[in-house]
Amino acid sequence: MNPFVFHSPTKVTFGECTSWTAAEVAKDFGATKTFIVTDEILMKTGILKPILGAFEENSYCLFTDVPSDSDVDTVNKAAVLARQFGANCVLAIGGGSVLDTAKVVNICLSLGGELLDYQGLNNLADRLGPIIAIPTTAGTGSEVSMVAMVKDHKEGKKLLFGSRFLAPDAAILDPTLLVSLPPRLTAATGLDAITHAIESFSAVISSSSFTDALCLEALRMLFDNLPRATAHGDDLEARSATLIASAMAGVAFTNSGVGIVHALAHATGATFGTHHGLTNSILLPHCMNFNLDTISYRYALISRHLGFSKSANDNDAASALIKAVEEISAKVGLPSRLRDCGIPVLNKAQLDELAFLASTDPAIMFNPKESSVQDIIGIYERAY
Ligand SMILES: NC(=O)c1ccc[n+]([C@@H]2O[C@H](COP(=O)([O-])OP(=O)(O)OC[C@H]3O[C@@H](n4cnc5c(N)ncnc54)[C@H](O)[C@@H]3O)[C@@H](O)[C@H]2O)c1
Ligand SMILES: [Fe+2]
Repeated sequence: MNPFVFHSPTKVTFGECTSWTAAEVAKDFGATKTFIVTDEILMKTGILKPILGAFEENSYCLFTDVPSDSDVDTVNKAAVLARQFGANCVLAIGGGSVLDTAKVVNICLSLGGELLDYQGLNNLADRLGPIIAIPTTAGTGSEVSMVAMVKDHKEGKKLLFGSRFLAPDAAILDPTLLVSLPPRLTAATGLDAITHAIESFSAVISSSSFTDALCLEALRMLFDNLPRATAHGDDLEARSATLIASAMAGVAFTNSGVGIVHALAHATGATFGTHHGLTNSILLPHCMNFNLDTISYRYALISRHLGFSKSANDNDAASALIKAVEEISAKVGLPSRLRDCGIPVLNKAQLDELAFLASTDPAIMFNPKESSVQDIIGIYERAY
């Protein structure tokens, strides 16, 4: 067995309406001034009212200006406000874009200096101030992960911030907040979580029995509940299962790393602004086919665990898993080709640029099989 370290510092609370306790949780961290990060769409849904209502007047400052594909300028703007307010705690309520923005704002607030100085892996010298994360999508796992990503429009790429100090101190999983999440986003974010679990389970050098157990159970819960959560947004049982599974997959991948699907999806998202989960869902079966000759025994374990195959032949069982991934994407209404998600053409220059970005993305380090630039171009062409 490989040696490993497993680390999961986030206190996780689950339950209907648990988000209403956020003000108390902040107080427990000694907060007197909480900087709350969210977005306009969530404000309009009305789901934040009971959360905000529990804060004392003047004890919080609200920042709602987070775009769907958040960026360095948004972080800098929010960090200035947070400092002016004198915040001593950060509360993030939203999807991965909001959570990641808040996590990077917390770096600026806690350590000062220039945001860009902290990008990359393990560049935070010290602990940060307290941060509480309340996800309103079930996909990214950012509420428990030790990473955050924001876009740098000047460089045309996503910047990665990775450090054990980036894991939120508390994550509150409240399924009632997800009732308003539209079907397409429910489906796409769910496929992000499925990708996390499959890539984490496949990262054979850095995964462990701890991460494996989380991945297998997360996948069972996601395959069983994502179609229901997508078709019936108010089904709190299905919402709960996908929300918990997403956090479990988050704990897993943040310990093991992800892989080639994420590397290619980060490049695609940075270049074309495609949604992260949707891009993963399209690339996932193609990347699994690419990895198949190296990792079929791991895919086969998942496939048998989920009852997709009884075959003793690893290749057959692994292929059944790839088929199940394609089927669940179709069942929840997601497109299967990149050309159907806002990429009108993919010419040679674009392919070269995407392949360069993907081959230099940190996620690719954890993939079980090495890939050349030509391999990556081949995957993009097949997925297009
Ligand atoms: N830090 C990590 O570990 C990690 C992992 C994976 C992805 N990410 C990042 O997360 C981002 C994607 O996050 P996402 O997939 O959650 O999407 P998102 O945060 O971009 O949200 C997508 C849209 O859904 C809306 N929305 C969110 N919750 C809603 C709700 N309950 N009701 C109605 N509308 C709602 C948002 O307002 C937004 O318009 C990307 O930037 C990606 O890079 C981070
Ligand atoms: Fe992801």
